[in-house]
Amino acid sequence: MTADLLNSPPLLLLASAAASAVLALADSARAQTTAPDTLQHWAARRGLLIGVAVAPRPLRDDDAYRQLLAREFNIVTTENALKWQSIQPRPGEFTWDDADVIVAFATEHGMKFRSHCAVWHHALPDWVAALAADPPRMRQAMRDHIDAIGARYGGGMTYWDVVNEAMEDDGTLRDTPWLRGLGPDYIAEAFVAAHAAAPAVKLVYNDYGTEYPGPKSDAVYALVRDLLGRGVPVHAVGFQMHLLRGLGDAGPIKANFQRFAELGVQVHVTELDVAIQNLEGTPARKLERQADVYRRVMEICTRVEGVTVVQTWGLSDNHSWISWFTGKPDAALLFDETYQPKPAYHAVLDVLAHDGQGPRAGDSSR
Ligand code: G3I
Repeated sequence: MTADLLNSPPLLLLASAAASAVLALADSARAQTTAPDTLQHWAARRGLLIGVAVAPRPLRDDDAYRQLLAREFNIVTTENALKWQSIQPRPGEFTWDDADVIVAFATEHGMKFRSHCAVWHHALPDWVAALAADPPRMRQAMRDHIDAIGARYGGGMTYWDVVNEAMEDDGTLRDTPWLRGLGPDYIAEAFVAAHAAAPAVKLVYNDYGTEYPGPKSDAVYALVRDLLGRGVPVHAVGFQMHLLRGLGDAGPIKANFQRFAELGVQVHVTELDVAIQNLEGTPARKLERQADVYRRVMEICTRVEGVTVVQTWGLSDNHSWISWFTGKPDAALLFDETYQPKPAYHAVLDVLAHDGQGPRAGDSSR
């Protein structure tokens, strides 16, 4: 299926159905056809999805990027292509070209697809933020936006980050246009709207700095427990895990993931990267320390049954937000700028292939 085909509404339903069929067929074939020494091969044997956030530009013009992505991973998420600013910069004017490229790639290669992210306070056009002064119009705008994404991709996507980063570090709800306009129940409203727009898709609450127990993680836990108790459709919690300063004791993270899993939601590591700029030692030593952090994160993920998805935030060091954000050179991902595997890649592969827990029950949906 090409991106062009996705442009016509009557064809869209067909395209969605075809996409689902292609994904299902590809899934059954993958078990036999994935190259034996790849991340996705070993992840699939554990019922895990392993993926990356991707950008449309290298998918359009970089063969090496495309080949590496298809070889090693079985899920992609949209880094920026489905943010509000990207798809609806002006009221009612939707642009899907970039997201279509990503969905077409995932479909062509039998990969799962996650949409990121519908309701967030960043990458939000001013016209939406201004609607906080007019709650009925803001509510309608949120529903229309969610409906549009669901109508276009609901037949093919597996996961959807519906609400992103709604919590402050101290465990209070973040002061955003959404909270100011719609009040605290905007979160529940967004999930209910997303479920109506795409009933088969697993819906995710996603946040950062929540992997350790503490005020923020406790607040997300209470939020999700409350939503579930009210029958609001939340199916997974995403822990971003942008590790800018390494990793402390893994035990509390494991226990934290476990308690979320016991609520009945899937646990996803959604945006993993491990910056090296604050690690000690020579450049080579930094990469070893980075590999050790990736190894320990992966061990947590292979040992907590509820973890079903692990994604890094970018494929390779030339496609990472960290240097842009910190203003310093870095190399936070599994592959270097020439797409060569780093020690971190070998550490993750080693855990997936050899960590002694055996096959586990994963997400068999879709
Ligand atoms: O690369 C250009 C540079 O050429 C230009 O000079 C500069 C001017 O501002 O912009 C650079 O692009 C920036 C891009 O990040 C670089 O990666 C964009 O302005 C900037 O908007 C964009 O930020 C994105 C950010 O979300 C805000 O939407 C990042 O790509 C993206 O990785 C980041 O992702 C977020 C997740 O969605 C949510 N969790 C945290 C995560 C990291 O912040």
